[in-house]
Amino acid sequence: MSNNRGLFLTFEGIEGAGKSSNLDYAKAIIEASGKKVTVSREPGGTEVGEKIRAVLLDPNLPAMHADTELLLMFASRAEHYQNKILPALNAGNWVLCDRFTDASFAYQGGGRNIDVNRIAALEAWALGNFKADKTFLFDLPVSVGLSRAKARSEADRIEQEESDFFERIRNSYLMRAIVEPNRFCVIDASQTMEGVRGQVERAVEELILKRIE
Ligand SMILES: Nc1ncnc2c1ncn2[C@@H]1O[C@H](COP(=O)(O)OP(=O)(O)OP(=O)(O)O)[C@@H](O)[C@H]1O
Ligand SMILES: [Mg+2]
Repeated sequence: MSNNRGLFLTFEGIEGAGKSSNLDYAKAIIEASGKKVTVSREPGGTEVGEKIRAVLLDPNLPAMHADTELLLMFASRAEHYQNKILPALNAGNWVLCDRFTDASFAYQGGGRNIDVNRIAALEAWALGNFKADKTFLFDLPVSVGLSRAKARSEADRIEQEESDFFERIRNSYLMRAIVEPNRFCVIDASQTMEGVRGQVERAVEELILKRIE
């Protein structure tokens, strides 16, 4: 990895965990250190990807096969990786992404019970060995996340699932964090907004310092 290349940071967790609010907060800290930041999200992040996102989240569509959902996620991701993430990183920008591949393992793997080996095959096919440099996992009890999300907006197609579905997702995320402790930074997202921001700030400052050394 050349030193001018930016870092790729992903923000993961169940609905209402605080991904989007803290991504904005991290962006401000990184920009204040003089780096350029590209913000993006999945599914979506590109013009094509946002159209795929609209299909994935449409609450009026009939039930979609889990494989279809997974393939649409990776179709959006391939476009995103090739046409937005890689060019931005190569231009020296830091890229902050609201959900990435870990979400496919957690939602389509843990949530929808797709065999993780099939997901790993798609990951290798679409991304090769590419992974986030750091993944912030916002972890909190499902009931707290869902009540935060509900207070904010109407449920989309995926948010309408039962709480068991989100328990499986939370557990999948936590298992992934155990397997890759260097890539993951687990944030206790049940704390107050200030408490969570403090954790994010410390972790982001550490990344900035490492990049300067
Ligand atoms: N630590 C916190 N304590 C209380 N409320 C919070 C906290 N963090 C975020 N919120 C609020 O909870 C809601 C969800 O936060 P946010 O949108 O950042 O979560 P998210 O993980 O991006 O959710 P989604 O997956 O639905 O996009 C927002 O209204 C936000 O202001
Ligand atoms: Mg969000």
